[in-house]
Amino acid sequence: PDLGIEEQAELLPYDKRWEFPRDKLKLGKQLGSGAFGVVFKAEAIGIIDKDTTTTVAVKMIKPNTDPSYIKALASELKIMIHLGRHLNVVNLLGAYTGNINKRELMVIVEYCRFGNIHQYMLKQRDCFVNQVTKDGYLDYSIKTISKNPYYVNVPNNTILPEKCDDSSTQIGSDGYLVPDEVEPEWRSNYRGDYKNLIVKPSCTHDLICWSFQVARGMEYLASRKILHGDLATRNILLAEENIVKICDFGFAKTMYNSENYKKKSDKDLLPVKWMAIESLRDRVFSTQSDVWAFGIVLWEIFSLAVTPYPNIQKFNDLFNRLVEGYRMEQPKYANSEIYNIMLDCWKMNPMTRPSFTDLAERLGDLLQDGT
Ligand code: ADE
Repeated sequence: PDLGIEEQAELLPYDKRWEFPRDKLKLGKQLGSGAFGVVFKAEAIGIIDKDTTTTVAVKMIKPNTDPSYIKALASELKIMIHLGRHLNVVNLLGAYTGNINKRELMVIVEYCRFGNIHQYMLKQRDCFVNQVTKDGYLDYSIKTISKNPYYVNVPNNTILPEKCDDSSTQIGSDGYLVPDEVEPEWRSNYRGDYKNLIVKPSCTHDLICWSFQVARGMEYLASRKILHGDLATRNILLAEENIVKICDFGFAKTMYNSENYKKKSDKDLLPVKWMAIESLRDRVFSTQSDVWAFGIVLWEIFSLAVTPYPNIQKFNDLFNRLVEGYRMEQPKYANSEIYNIMLDCWKMNPMTRPSFTDLAERLGDLLQDGT
């Protein structure tokens, strides 16, 4: 069924300068899929420079899904246009709004080769270099034993690449696709067995560096009066040069012309374990509730992607424990300084939580701290 005229009107007024021709976009393999969207890798001709082809990521709606989903993606597009560019945000490159009536909407963004840091960290567990000393100091002189690639066993819940027809993805000697995240110099000896991905080991310094960058990206969002509403490691992507970028603005809201808060409708799915105590109680979201979620992200990062509150399954249990003052314990790869930052993000009173500027400063200091 087609969308009504009002629904179309709500979707359409957008800056046509972002429009990108469909025939210049060659879709490749699927990169991921969320509640309503699917993301494909693609090659876009002339999106950055005339005559050059750029690898991009394209978000669209799954076919035959609820019409409310196209509204969510259109809203995400508008948020991204309003947002502007920042190094630590997945930047918009263009959009194809061609036949919006037929629910065709494609949002074209920067491609991040290593995917989301949640999946990435799961692959790091066997080879991670812990630079926190016994006394809780940071010792950045602790380095990887070997510079060689590691073969690691991938946990069962890792999303593995699929076999597909994608000309931009290299095929190994045994006929398997070599995942993009495998370093070019290691591609020739890639075993083709998806259960054994080759990864470059990360260290504590990398985790702090990612955390710092997420704080900077969120500081930018807050300065543009946008609340993310779904900050989690599944929505943080890793690009070249250890650069991380915040993505997925499907839940994001602009706060302009509503003082500081925005109430969500009841039927929305909520990321309960990332939600601040006041959001659980009243469904009120703010930059301060994004700060709470940032604390959960720190906990995920410094546990290498353990699911938050691993022993709590029920909404009411979570809420009641938080009201009693319970907070998650120090994760395995944090020291007390890093843990204290998390605890500050989880203060009961939203006004006493640090700002993203404070958080970026404290994490920036830790980046230089080590020896
Ligand atoms: N998965 C979802 N979005 C992505 C992007 N922009 N780059 C790489 N993988 C992704």
